[in-house]
Amino acid sequence: MLSAKIIGTGSYLPEFVMKNSDFEKIVETNDEWIISRTGISERHFGIGMENWEMGFNAAQKALLSADVKPEEIDLIIGTTITPDYFYPGLSNIVQSKLGAVNAFCFDSAAACNGFSVGMDIAWQFIRSGRSKKVLIVSSEALSKTIDFTDRSTCVLFGDGAGAVLLDACDEGGILNSYNMSEADVEGTLACRALPPNNPFIKENEKKSIFSGLTGNNLRMGGRDTYKFATRAIPKAIEKVLEGTGISLAEIKYIIPHQANIRIIHYVADHLGIDHAKMYINIEKYGNTSSASIPIALDEMVDSGLLEPHDKVIFVGFGAGLNYGAVLLEW
Ligand code: ACO
Repeated sequence: MLSAKIIGTGSYLPEFVMKNSDFEKIVETNDEWIISRTGISERHFGIGMENWEMGFNAAQKALLSADVKPEEIDLIIGTTITPDYFYPGLSNIVQSKLGAVNAFCFDSAAACNGFSVGMDIAWQFIRSGRSKKVLIVSSEALSKTIDFTDRSTCVLFGDGAGAVLLDACDEGGILNSYNMSEADVEGTLACRALPPNNPFIKENEKKSIFSGLTGNNLRMGGRDTYKFATRAIPKAIEKVLEGTGISLAEIKYIIPHQANIRIIHYVADHLGIDHAKMYINIEKYGNTSSASIPIALDEMVDSGLLEPHDKVIFVGFGAGLNYGAVLLEW
């Protein structure tokens, strides 16, 4: 049956590294608190660099590793919640910089579950025969949305990009996907876009569906997000395995969205699996939203951790509230 397999991976992290000790100088926090509560030691921030540049660098590496020319790509899916422009999209800018003249492009904004959604869409396009070579570029400059006076959120996030190139295949590749959304009526995870700004609107007429959400900084209810994540991740894993005849024991690696090491360990314990089965790199990058899974994947490929026929699950969760998983045979 026609499916889609990953034939190239890439990632890019900007040079500037912000260590936990650097945060001690700007908010009341300390290295010990951040590491023990989150698993994060440092994160990268793009300085003098737009978000698309990170995505472009990751995409170039993915194309190189697959030995595919930009003209061969027929679809580019950008995933980001931190674009440089409302339009054109991240995918459009990457298209023009790569010279991917035969591609059609669009972006998806499914927050930290963006990569799982991007993979799902790519799979549908490829198995329907509509596309053959699909590039997913997941690029996030979360530092643009951080409130650097709020210690409960500013230490958690980082910038970075990951990319994968998918091609049609007859066996293996993506075996199943599952994505789902729950309404976040309180705005547990939210960030305001441009507020209304025309001269006919009075100050008291400016509205927001989420009360108290002003400015352009991200807002996160940490404990509610934690509870959601520890419920959603096991469900997504269970759902993506359902009906495939593949058991959890057959999975070589689960590559989770990197938001908090405690969430990942909790899920491993809950599922009764070895912590070593969960790929973790949060200590170096923090939470890079939709880029975290493809960055981890590229790192695993570079380290030679994946062998043909290994079964792997990507699992994400985040604002929306969105969550989902992709099961594939490497
Ligand atoms: N340094 C020191 N102390 C801090 C810091 C900090 N950086 N941040 C918070 N604290 C304090 C709090 O003020 C609180 O103090 P208090 O008890 O005197 O009030 C105390 O530490 C405990 O705070 P909690 O919020 O209860 O800490 P918790 O153990 O829950 O950890 C955290 C907070 C890390 C945010 C956790 O709740 C978490 O990881 N939640 C999920 C985050 C997540 O998955 N986000 C994904 C977002 S994805 C997206 O879509 C954008």
